[in-house]
This record gives sequence, C-alpha cells and structure tokens, in this order.
Amino acid sequence: MKRLKCSFVTIVFVVFGTAVATAQDNSDDTDWKNTPQTAFLKSEIVQTYQCTSCHTIAERGGTVGPRLNQIGNRRREEWLKRWLSDPQQVKPGTKMPKFDFSPEQLDMAVGYLTKMKKELETEQILAKDVPVVDKGDLLFEDYDCLACHRIGSTGRFVGPDLTWVGIRKTEAWEQVWLADPPAFKPDTFMPNFHIPEKGIEALAAYLHTQQGQENSESQEWEFRTNFFLGNDAKERGELVFKRFACWACHGEAGSGGIRNPNMAPNEIMPGLKKTAVNYTKEELLARLKEKTFPEPLDPNKPAPPFSCPDYGNYMEESEFGDLYAYLKSFAPKRSKWRFN
Ligand code: HEC
Ligand code: HEC
Ligand code: HEC
Repeated sequence: MKRLKCSFVTIVFVVFGTAVATAQDNSDDTDWKNTPQTAFLKSEIVQTYQCTSCHTIAERGGTVGPRLNQIGNRRREEWLKRWLSDPQQVKPGTKMPKFDFSPEQLDMAVGYLTKMKKELETEQILAKDVPVVDKGDLLFEDYDCLACHRIGSTGRFVGPDLTWVGIRKTEAWEQVWLADPPAFKPDTFMPNFHIPEKGIEALAAYLHTQQGQENSESQEWEFRTNFFLGNDAKERGELVFKRFACWACHGEAGSGGIRNPNMAPNEIMPGLKKTAVNYTKEELLARLKEKTFPEPLDPNKPAPPFSCPDYGNYMEESEFGDLYAYLKSFAPKRSKWRFN
C-alpha cells in the first residue's frame, strides 16, 4: 500500500471527525447488522486499506471523504472502477490515495460499493401532506446530501457548506444545478442524482431557507476544532472560508475558474489568490459588506446568476481577521533579493 500523505489538518480532521462521529452516534450498530455496509466494513478491502480513516461506513469512520453508505445510489460501476483505479485522474488534487489493488480486489471493492444503497422514498415523500420546504428537508436526508455537504455542525466539507446557501444562490438556479450538475460544470464531483422535477423544486425550496440560522452551531464546532488547530489564524481562516463557502464561487482554495454566465468580461468568476495583495483588510471588509452585482456582458441577456454576497455583515470581526490571514497566505512570497 502506498504511504498515506496525511497533512496535519487531515489527521486532526480524522481524529476529531471520528471523535465527533462516536460522540453523536447513539444509534447502535445493530441497525447495520447483515447489511452490505457491514459486510464491506469487515471485508479484506477495508481491513487492509483502512478506508474508514477517511470515510464513514455504517456508523464508523472519519469525515474527510464522503460517507459511503449510499454510494450505490449515486455512482455507477464504471465510475467506481475509474475512481478506485486512480482518483487523481478523476479529481486532480484529491486527498484520496491511489491504492495498489489487485484486479480481484478492485472487482471486489466495486462489487461491495454498488450494493451499498437504499430504497429511495422520493415518491412517498412527495406525496406527503406537508409544506414543500419540509418535503425538501426529507429528500435532503433521503438522498444523503450530508454525505458530502454540511449544514451547521453536521456533515462534511467535500461539497460546499450549505449553512448559507440561501444567501448566495437563488432558488431558480438551485433547480438548474440539481437537475444536472455536470451539465453546468463538467468536471464537478457532484453526481447527477436524476431527481424528478417535483423533488428538485422541493429541495431548492428547502435549500433557499438555509440562510445562516444554523451558523452559531458551526461556530461552536469551529471553536472546538480550533483547539486542535493550535490557534493558528491561517488555519482558522481556512475554516471560515469553507463555512461561508467562498469556494463555491471562487474555486477550491481560491483558485478561480468557475463560470458565471453573462458576467463581463469573460463569464469566469475571479480567483482570490491576489486578494490580500490588492485589498487591505479594511478595503476587503468594506467590499464584503456590500452585495455587488456583476456587469453583464450582454445587457439583453439574463443577468449573471451569481453575485458576491454581503458576507461582511454576517461575519464576526475575529472571523474576518482569520479569513484575511488565510487569504494572505496565498500571496506570492516577496523575493528576498529584489534590486529594483
Ligand atoms: C486519506 C483519506 C482517504 C482514504 C484513506 C480513502 N479515501 Fe475515498 N475519498 C477521499 C476523499 C477526500 C474523497 C472525495 C474526493 C475529494 O473531495 O477529493 C473520496 C471519495 C471516495 C469515493 C467517491 C465518493 C462519492 O460519494 O462519490 C469512493 C467510492 C471512495 N472514496 C472509496 C474509498 C475506498 C473504498 C477506500 C479504501 C480502499 C478509500 N476511499 C480510502 C479520501 C479517502
Ligand atoms: C459526492 C459528493 C456530493 C454529494 C453526495 C452531493 N453533493 Fe452537492 N456538491 C458537491 C460538490 C463537490 C459541489 C461543488 C460544485 C463544484 O464546484 O464542483 C456541490 C455543489 C452543490 C450546490 C451548490 C453550491 C453552493 O453554492 O453551495 C448545491 C446547492 C448542492 N451541491 C446540493 C446538493 C444536494 C441537494 C445533494 C443531495 C441530493 C448534494 N448536493 C449531494 C458534492 C456533492
Ligand atoms: C455566489 C457566488 C460568490 C460567493 C459565494 C463569493 N463570491 Fe466573491 N465574487 C463573486 C463574483 C461574481 C465576483 C465578481 C463580480 C464582482 O466583483 O462583484 C466576486 C468578487 C469578489 C472579490 C473581488 C475580486 C477582485 O479580483 O477584485 C473578492 C475579494 C471576493 N469576491 C471575495 C469573496 C470572499 C472572501 C468570499 C467568501 C467570504 C466570497 N467572495 C464569496 C461571487 C461570489
């Protein structure tokens, strides 16, 4: 097996994630008796390669990668084969290591994973006599969206944290996204769940209600995590960046490149690699306090769907300070020997 390249943060997340999973786990393992999830947990694959150091399977494991209990609902056999053979080919930069599976082990792993699914209750949920937002909430759970996402202090950071999604995305756009994520962003890691139209409407309505009301819970979680992060402003800032999901529009670690149709000049949202060079702390705070509406490329076409939210009004001063420290860590280091 290849040596795992675990950063300090990863280890903290693994250790802390496991601790949290155990602490919150009050359903006992008997719920998972005789299920494909438990079979996988006991298999040669998990025993040998320790997938649970990053993934939750049944009720066990870490939160660095997606929870795998419903993996068979969202990924097909061919995709899983490609992913397990070489994760970097599918998602460059992923923390998931390439394992040297034998061909038999690869088939075995894919065999287990495709069986790990549940009977979705989409139709029953949609038929319920409850408000549409509640249906969305139930569907969110049914599809196990928290396998990758996070709201408040629950879930993972594989997809953007959805605690504030209602202030950054419109309901109409959520519908477009949920109908077919790869159609909007071909290289996205979010699968197409093939959700029926009514389900998409309910999910979008539910997501739109997420406007930070769970945020105090994340702050508390973050406070406890900071204890493990050793009080490093930059690492705390990375968490602020993830909690407010700047990366949903500015790319992972501010790398940019995400599309904003009809936004001038090139329909691509800016990266944030130079933000701490171009903006002083005060200037950035002032900017984040105003919601800005990007210039359209063609005034006759629909306005660009994404604008930069007025986050400055929601962030606490200390959070903003940490965020700035994180953005500052991107700035190119000034060379020691500069003669001009
Ligand atoms: C060091 C952490 C780590 C280990 C160990 C690890 N993975 Fe992953 N895995 C990830 C991450 C992180 C992702 C999500 C991709 C990303 O965001 O980079 C992922 C994604 C996946 C996915 C796709 C999940 C989805 O919802 O689409 C599967 C399947 C998977 N891993 C299976 C495995 C199996 C099987 C093992 C053990 C043989 C394993 N992983 C070990 C980190 C890990
Ligand atoms: C395998 C991981 C994974 C699962 C499971 C998943 N997503 Fe996502 N999702 C992502 C990723 C990654 C992105 C970021 C898009 C990108 O840049 O590729 C995303 C983006 C989003 C966004 C828009 C980004 C924003 O501003 O927050 C929404 C909304 C969303 N997902 C909702 C859902 C819902 C609802 C479900 C369940 C039906 C779901 N996701 C399941 C990985 C996942
Ligand atoms: C919903 C999408 C979205 C989210 C989320 C978002 N932004 Fe933006 N941001 C934009 C768009 C679009 C622009 C470019 C148009 C403009 O200037 O308003 C932008 C511009 C910026 C700029 C100016 C860039 C430059 O080159 O001058 C900064 C700085 C910035 N955002 C910081 C942030 C930070 C920090 C966060 C997280 C706290 C964040 N943004 C979250 C959409 C977003």
